[in-house]
Amino acid sequence: MMACIVRALSDGDLVQASQIRLEALRDHPSVFLSKYENEVKRGPDEWRSVLFGEDRCFFGLMDNGVIVGLIGIITWKDDPSGEYPGAVVAHYIKPDYRGRGLSVPMYQACIHWALGHRAWKRVIVTHRAGNEGSRKAILAAGFQFTHNEPMIWPDGNEDNECIYAINLEEMRQKQ
Ligand SMILES: CC(C)(COP(=O)(O)OP(=O)(O)OC[C@H]1O[C@@H](n2cnc3c(N)ncnc32)[C@H](O)[C@@H]1OP(=O)(O)O)[C@@H](O)C(=O)NCCC(=O)NCCS
Repeated sequence: MMACIVRALSDGDLVQASQIRLEALRDHPSVFLSKYENEVKRGPDEWRSVLFGEDRCFFGLMDNGVIVGLIGIITWKDDPSGEYPGAVVAHYIKPDYRGRGLSVPMYQACIHWALGHRAWKRVIVTHRAGNEGSRKAILAAGFQFTHNEPMIWPDGNEDNECIYAINLEEMRQKQ
């Protein structure tokens, strides 16, 4: 296995990026807020509008040109406070690449992009209660727990959504 790098994805990555996203939803139907059955129907143009745009950036964890992990940062449009912070979404690492601390540089790529491209005050990230791998990875990346919110998940069960944030304004002041 060569050393992996994290890089922003572009149109040439569309097919691989959509495939790894569908793999994540198919193999982990209980941890994401979206469903395989909904996203598998997307055509290339819809994938393009999901993955690329001025308010978002998706990154690939790359091993020798192959996408082995995915993460994205988007505007959080469902924010009830009206602040609309950035949100890290769609985090997934293929099983063979887990447990090597590779999630931290993936979160760092998102935070670095947010600092340089958007006026967001905060970036949030969430996981389903009980998703220990995600919880540890989020804390290792420097996010702080803020609160839980009850949520009906796509598998029909109710569980808390655990919400974390990182303060971009503080980070900008220290730059
Ligand atoms: C979440 C995910 C991206 C984290 O990737 P990862 O490679 O495990 O992350 P890291 O190597 O940085 O590990 C983070 C920590 O969690 C631990 N961990 C990973 N999976 C775990 C699990 N299932 N149970 C308990 N701890 C786990 C690791 O040992 C590590 O702990 P450490 O920092 O004490 O050594 C990956 O597990 C994944 O793709 N999971 C399936 C999809 C998913 O849940 N996505 C997130 C949706 S919110």
